[in-house]
Amino acid sequence: MVAYKSKVVERIQLPSRERRERALEEAGYNVFELAAEEVFIDLLTDSGTGAMSDQQWAALLRGDESYAGSRSFDELESAVRDVMGFSRVVPTHQGRGAENVLYGSLLEDGDVVLNNTHFDTTRAHVANQGADPVDCPVDRAHDLTVDGSFKGNFSLDRAWSTVDEVGAERVPVVILTITNNSAAGQPVSVANTRRVREFADEIGATFVIDACRFAENAAFVGDREAEFSDATVAEIAREQLGYADALVMSGKKDGLVNAGGFVATDDDALFERCKQRAILYEGFPTYGGMSGRDVAAMAVGLREAVEEAYVADRLEQVRTFAELLEDAGVPIYTPPGGHAVYLDAASALPHVPSAEFPGQALVCALYREGGVRGVELGSFAFPDTDRPELVRLAIPRRTYHREHLEHVVETAETVLENQETVSGLEIVSEPENRELRHFTASLEPISN
Ligand code: F0G
Repeated sequence: MVAYKSKVVERIQLPSRERRERALEEAGYNVFELAAEEVFIDLLTDSGTGAMSDQQWAALLRGDESYAGSRSFDELESAVRDVMGFSRVVPTHQGRGAENVLYGSLLEDGDVVLNNTHFDTTRAHVANQGADPVDCPVDRAHDLTVDGSFKGNFSLDRAWSTVDEVGAERVPVVILTITNNSAAGQPVSVANTRRVREFADEIGATFVIDACRFAENAAFVGDREAEFSDATVAEIAREQLGYADALVMSGKKDGLVNAGGFVATDDDALFERCKQRAILYEGFPTYGGMSGRDVAAMAVGLREAVEEAYVADRLEQVRTFAELLEDAGVPIYTPPGGHAVYLDAASALPHVPSAEFPGQALVCALYREGGVRGVELGSFAFPDTDRPELVRLAIPRRTYHREHLEHVVETAETVLENQETVSGLEIVSEPENRELRHFTASLEPISN
């Protein structure tokens, strides 16, 4: 059931085919290099790209820009207490700022960190502290077609085998990322969250939840976990988050804002350490790298994120998009996650071998055909791994309508109908750090 109408609109247009082809060539076949105005439907990310509500825009005007003691910070504290159940909040400029503050306070050289799957910035911040990030997804996480309610879960078996190998004393932090962005946005059950809590207790580790998409995750739990079939999204969110010792949050996702993040905890000693580190890297602890108005808008956004109508509308849109793609014969990761639909590029372009980046070839074809921007998450973004060749089409919150998504489906359908005209790509220049190459590398089509 649709839950919004538009109050402000932004003009968009589909550039001509000729202009799209030129733009793609000039961008070195890397859509991160495209000017946004060359893009018609932008599904690059769901991070900071959503529309704010009228209530949030009103809060923006009321934002308190005081350097210290801002009233907007009190509003954020009270929203985090009510919605997430934590009393101590350290605001930061965005999620990775929170990761720096928290992991810089918890980790030392030589530590090992376990996570259902580290998101890129999480992995980088763990590594930046000299620690080793180890992923513990369940086996079915990277199976594109197997059914499963909670393919985002944390594998206790993998976690125990790492602990047996390295010793519990080397594992001070266990992270649960909900939903599991790097495993196609799949949800994590509350039952699994409880087991991770017990595991963290057994090895004496701090249990962190990366809560970026906590509201979407809670909605999946309500639909799929029998114990919670009568619970509200707000109740489930509090229950699930309540098992953690600390949260890292990017407000750009389920905070429903364009900027901001925070660390939250009830542990006074950890709060003090984070606060001191945040002063160094983010700002005074009542604004933390955000303007007061952004803090105020995030306080409202957190409350809106657990409204039933919002989150039902959100998940329904992603599900409908997935169904339309499937009906059109476009191969996708199933079941769809909470914030994006992931296309199976290896099946869509079977004639393009992995070495010629089928995911990136599909990303370029979608842009060329319909001005649609997605992101490759396969052998181009993750060199030297055996990740599946996925293309993520992330849906900004409260932004696009069904017609926009139908355009994307028609675009993908046309690309598939003419799949033999899509050629593989080769890299012509890449940065020294291959881990981040997909942001800036240039490519060229391989002519056969
Ligand atoms: N954790 C997760 C699970 C994320 O998905 C992201 C960002 C972050 C942390 C970092 O937050 O961007 O506010 O610094 N994900 C975006 C994406 C960038 O496109 O998936 P940030």
